[in-house]
Amino acid sequence: MVRTAVLPVAGLGTRFLPVTKSVPKELLPVVDRPSIQYIVEECVDNGVDDVLFVTATGKSAMEDHFDRRLDLETALADKGKDAELALVRDLAELATVHSVRQGEALGLGHAILQGAQHIGPDGSFAVLLGDDLLEPGCDFLARMIEAHERTGRPVIALMEVPQDQVHLYGAAEVEPTDRDGEFRVTSMVEKPPPGEEPSNLIMVGRYVLPGSIFEVLRSTPPGRGGEIQITDALQTCAQEEPIIGLKLDVPRYDTGDKLGYLKANLQFAAVREDVGPELLAWLREWLGEDAAVGAGPR
Ligand code: G1P
Repeated sequence: MVRTAVLPVAGLGTRFLPVTKSVPKELLPVVDRPSIQYIVEECVDNGVDDVLFVTATGKSAMEDHFDRRLDLETALADKGKDAELALVRDLAELATVHSVRQGEALGLGHAILQGAQHIGPDGSFAVLLGDDLLEPGCDFLARMIEAHERTGRPVIALMEVPQDQVHLYGAAEVEPTDRDGEFRVTSMVEKPPPGEEPSNLIMVGRYVLPGSIFEVLRSTPPGRGGEIQITDALQTCAQEEPIIGLKLDVPRYDTGDKLGYLKANLQFAAVREDVGPELLAWLREWLGEDAAVGAGPR
């Protein structure tokens, strides 16, 4: 049973400076919820209710978001704001949240390794990266967990991208299986230089891993960018026996950079009943005219 997720959230968020000087990147809102809330909700929707944040100094507001906030609850109760009160209370009951500090930013593999004590060598766990949001309510993670429980192998999420974007990601070499959308991954490489891509299948930020990965990570030397990479540890596993790749069949929203973040906000807002119809009508009108883009704030 996979009940625990490791969420690496220790990054400095330098692509979003200056806001990330004081606000963790994971708390930047997509419409009205911090992006990390979508990730925790995805865990819970897929049967994973024990969440371990791998965090860093200056990011404790993230844990506060999933804790009780009694002064706010009292104020909302006094004003009879029941719907808002339920929103605040439900967050604290969503999942069991733990945290561990990464200490030094030595890479994604190193961040995952910080979960070793919580999970142990015999447990299995999910890893979700906060920059990759999936369609809310989707069961993709549950299907990854099913594949892991059926095979005992590490499971990664794969997606096709245009060839000229592969160098931004981990990329995989695969063989088909007789299951639709499921592949045997025979080899992986982290951010291959242009011209050396094994395929145009990239690794999306979802993993389901056996606890034995910790031992592999401990002996994985620094790789791309001088960091300990989960891709390199998985490559070691795949050399013994192929691991499993599941091709993403739900929309993915990339909040990792400014443009992706802005697009995700529009996409999430467009399907919301409260703001979607008006937003779309306004966008059509605005873009239909000679969009007055010069008139905005600096
Ligand atoms: C990480 C992983 C990479 C993966 C990507 C998905 O890279 O190292 O293999 O393809 O997430 O978003 P990062 O975006 O942290 O550089």
